[in-house]
Amino acid sequence: MDRIRVLIVGVGGFGQNWWTLLPERPWVEVAGLVDPVQEALDKGGDALRVPASRRFTDLAAALGSVTADLAVHNTPPKLRAEHARLILPHGLHLLTAKPLAETLADARQIISLAKTHRRTLAVNQQLRYGPVPRTLGRMLRDGAVGQIDHLDFEFHQRRTYTDRLKDVPSPLLIESSVHHFDFLRSVAGCEPERVFCDAWNPAWTGATGETSATTILKMTGGFRINYRASRAGRADLDPSLSIGWYGRWFVEGTEGVIRGSEKEGYFLNGQMMLSPEAAVKDAGVHPLIGVLFDDVCCAIQEGRTPETSGEDNLWTMATCQAAYESYHQERWVAMKGFVG
Ligand SMILES: NC(=O)c1ccc[n+]([C@@H]2O[C@H](COP(=O)([O-])OP(=O)(O)OC[C@H]3O[C@@H](n4cnc5c(N)ncnc54)[C@H](O)[C@@H]3O)[C@@H](O)[C@H]2O)c1
Repeated sequence: MDRIRVLIVGVGGFGQNWWTLLPERPWVEVAGLVDPVQEALDKGGDALRVPASRRFTDLAAALGSVTADLAVHNTPPKLRAEHARLILPHGLHLLTAKPLAETLADARQIISLAKTHRRTLAVNQQLRYGPVPRTLGRMLRDGAVGQIDHLDFEFHQRRTYTDRLKDVPSPLLIESSVHHFDFLRSVAGCEPERVFCDAWNPAWTGATGETSATTILKMTGGFRINYRASRAGRADLDPSLSIGWYGRWFVEGTEGVIRGSEKEGYFLNGQMMLSPEAAVKDAGVHPLIGVLFDDVCCAIQEGRTPETSGEDNLWTMATCQAAYESYHQERWVAMKGFVG
């Protein structure tokens, strides 16, 4: 890999992942850091060995002072569009945390800006790089189940709601489904055409917004995804309910059946094809962020579009938005209007 100079914007919180991931990559030079919180700058700067002269509290000042190839953006989403309007015209490629933006309109504008300035735009949706989606996607593409009839995905997690998600409109769609829809799209190898969703908030959660949903995605590939997810599962009463990010799968097709979860392993027509150990190997959020970062850097250097490009991610964002509209309007929603 050729040398790449990185500007980190948003050093604390999720940005802390870079404190250990970047020093492991000798081809990365951390050109500068931006964060208005001094403690994040100090701790991140020390971990990344960035001198005080290249630690900034303001993005515009950093862009005026350091030379970088890629901005790694980890701030709260409300800053994404404003910062992209500074970063991309300045000539930097951009890797953002998810979501790409707060609204689809902002996301489209950022995508268009990247095109205008011929910069690579990618979104950190690392979970699709895990062994489960990678293996399932490859098997489905190779025709393991023949023509897919339906893909069922189930997810249960227990969260407490004392955090920033307590009062947001839909913690499930914003924080969890955005990951699920992203890797479900990558496994399915096609896009949702129409979406129907019902979402609700079980009485015991303490959150304001919807934490549980049932969603049907009618896919362009001619099959449906049945998506059932909850961030309010009663794992407090039955710990076995708690399931990892990759949930439980059941795919039926003309030639085969795939079923499984990380706990049980994955089976094709009753034969194990991915063991529980292999399903979780290097599958944590942290290592996968590194895998995605490497892929984005390769894409930049090879002049190709990265897998989680802004344009690709618009479909993930739009699927969340369509689900949200569907349960509010109590009707099927077509994706066409959302992705343009
Ligand atoms: N992919 C994942 O698995 C994953 C996991 C967690 C969070 N995220 C995403 O990461 C992003 C950040 O979330 P978080 O929980 O770390 O947020 P946060 O509120 O902790 O903010 C992250 C950092 O951004 C800094 N910041 C705030 N304003 C800034 C500005 N004007 N300029 C530069 N830096 C600024 C904060 O001081 C903080 O250090 C969100 O978009 C979130 O959805 C992704």
